[in-house]
Amino acid sequence: MAQKTKAKSVPPGPARAGSRRQALKLGQAHPAWAADADARTGDAGRADSRDPFSLQGRVAMVTGAARGIGLAVAERLAVLGAHVVLTDINQEGLERAEAGIAAEKGSAESIRLDVTDRKDIARVVDKVVARHGRIDILINNAGICINAAALDTTPEVWERQMTINLDAVFFLSQAVGAHMVEAGRGAMVNLSSFAAVVDVRPQKHIAYSVSKAGVAHLSKVLASEWAKSGVRVNAIAPGFVMTDMPLGAGMEMHDIWRKFVPAERFLHPYEIANVIAFLASDASSAITGQLIMADGGITIW
Ligand SMILES: NC(=O)c1ccc[n+]([C@@H]2O[C@H](COP(=O)([O-])OP(=O)(O)OC[C@H]3O[C@@H](n4cnc5c(N)ncnc54)[C@H](O)[C@@H]3O)[C@@H](O)[C@H]2O)c1
Repeated sequence: MAQKTKAKSVPPGPARAGSRRQALKLGQAHPAWAADADARTGDAGRADSRDPFSLQGRVAMVTGAARGIGLAVAERLAVLGAHVVLTDINQEGLERAEAGIAAEKGSAESIRLDVTDRKDIARVVDKVVARHGRIDILINNAGICINAAALDTTPEVWERQMTINLDAVFFLSQAVGAHMVEAGRGAMVNLSSFAAVVDVRPQKHIAYSVSKAGVAHLSKVLASEWAKSGVRVNAIAPGFVMTDMPLGAGMEMHDIWRKFVPAERFLHPYEIANVIAFLASDASSAITGQLIMADGGITIW
């Protein structure tokens, strides 16, 4: 019969995983793995890490931050301690968003950026790096959704959808990634969609869905290229979120869509922002190159 032993006080975190081995001292790597202990996990790989979710001292850039999911993300990152650079084409919305964060004592600034304009990308990235010395977090959130069935998708519709939703994600990631790779650390989160993995009904938007599948794969390839440089890249796939975007398909869709969601409810932008904040933080240092489903279960069925 197993002998009862008095429970030892074991620090929380990784030390618990090797329960049969001797508990590690706070902050100490396993002796057999000393050569592999990697500073690029930030604080999260340490047994004595108290708050790997904190974004204190980080500089974060969010595109499409004037409203919807982008605004919720900017607010959440600021609450967790980051200095947030809000960007959007909507200048008035940007100013409102920046003032809202400042009123809650968060740290924020806003810069107008059209993500489809490559010169504008270079200008804004240079400006932020000149001012802060680095960009630790990039959230590629700006996007549009054009509803059109395959036979109605003109070259103009296809190009516009890809330019904003896919090309811009690549060129901004490239511009910011160069600085992150040089710095040896960084986290990017790209907005994909559940439309990247299933066909969305009953409205039709083949170009949107394909652009979001592209974002998921782009994230995987960038993650692979930059992993050794300490830069993580993930994509998130929201389900139906209560913002202006889905309204473009018509209010009558609400009752139809609700039946597709196991919980029969739509998601709040902050529910997506929470997952993005996690992916941007050291708490997710083990996750890169993934498409994280945050869809309220819509892809279960
Ligand atoms: N709302 C949903 O149900 C849902 C679901 C899955 C994925 N998403 C994705 O999440 C992201 C945010 O969606 P949302 O619902 O908040 O949309 P939204 O329409 O409410 O907000 C999009 C923001 O992007 C900005 N924007 C558009 N074009 C831009 C450009 N060229 N340059 C800079 N900014 C630009 C807009 O001004 C706006 O502030 C999008 O990429 C979207 O595809 C949304």
